[in-house]
Amino acid sequence: MIVDGKQIRPIWLDADQTTVKVIDQRQLPHRFEVADLTTVDAVIHAIKEMFVRGAPLIGVTGAYGVMTAAINGETASDNLGFIRQECERLKAARPTAVNLVWGVDRAENCRRIGIHGAGLIEAISRRKNGGTVNVLTHCNAGWLACIEYGTATAPIYEAFNRGVDLHVWVDETRPLNQGSRLTAWELGKHGVPHTVITDNAGGHLMQHGRVDMVIVGTDRSTHTGDVANKIGTYLKALAARDNNVPFYVALPSSTFDWNMTDGVKEIPIEERSPDEVRYVQGLADGRIARVLVPPESSPAADFAFDVTPARLVTGFITERGVCGASEAEVHGLFPER
Ligand code: MRU
Repeated sequence: MIVDGKQIRPIWLDADQTTVKVIDQRQLPHRFEVADLTTVDAVIHAIKEMFVRGAPLIGVTGAYGVMTAAINGETASDNLGFIRQECERLKAARPTAVNLVWGVDRAENCRRIGIHGAGLIEAISRRKNGGTVNVLTHCNAGWLACIEYGTATAPIYEAFNRGVDLHVWVDETRPLNQGSRLTAWELGKHGVPHTVITDNAGGHLMQHGRVDMVIVGTDRSTHTGDVANKIGTYLKALAARDNNVPFYVALPSSTFDWNMTDGVKEIPIEERSPDEVRYVQGLADGRIARVLVPPESSPAADFAFDVTPARLVTGFITERGVCGASEAEVHGLFPER
């Protein structure tokens, strides 16, 4: 995607063909910093500490991690054993996003998700006689999370590029604010009209007819239709159902877990450091600062994801088209599975 007139991706290989370069997303939107990853430890650190984040990008970073392991293991006596061991360490770095396992085990496409999803936005635009289509999204399922186009944002960029009048409500997405820091930055750089809102505002906006559709990404969805995504997604789906607002989930088929059948019971939910809840990061007097919000002694808990049951999902937007969130419809689109 384009940032300040330059083509940029969230991860790339340096000219030396061995150093993996990533945008350190923890510093966005206030600083643009690039980190060099030359060891598997550095790759794991970048995944765990969220220099890179978002399920598809985590997957791609994992795949580069395998490359790094192969380079570093060149001189090991049991070269294959060494790489296998490093792969296991890579896969354990973040447990919810299934693409990490997939990326380490194998490689992906968002453009087609954009094309299929843009049709849904255009249909709403026609119904509104060309009036502004208001899309609500949660977290960052944009190109920063996925290499190009993003998942949830792909239909937005595609419809916007086709000239549809649209506006995006961007959930700030506590605790790490992937919405206000990253999605808002991405959309702004592309010129897409958007407004950052608190995570709690969506229900209110839906009640007043100010949201036409919700599109979110997912870190893992079961082939039966249950959707794991950033914490708070489930509450948006409940509010959407109560207000008859369509709730779509955009994902490449690599994000489907073809083995799990009950997402609520089976998808592992990553718990992260309570300090992510206790502190908020932002720009203060021109410097990036962290400030403590609750009382020093209050314990906090940081559940990174939740699961939205299939019954609350209007449909999946995949690279092959749009389908309902049910085992029959998902397998109808992916019969080979
Ligand atoms: O914890 P993160 O930042 O890696 O969160 C993942 C996400 O960005 C989202 O949950 C996203 O909506 C799905 S990934 C395309």
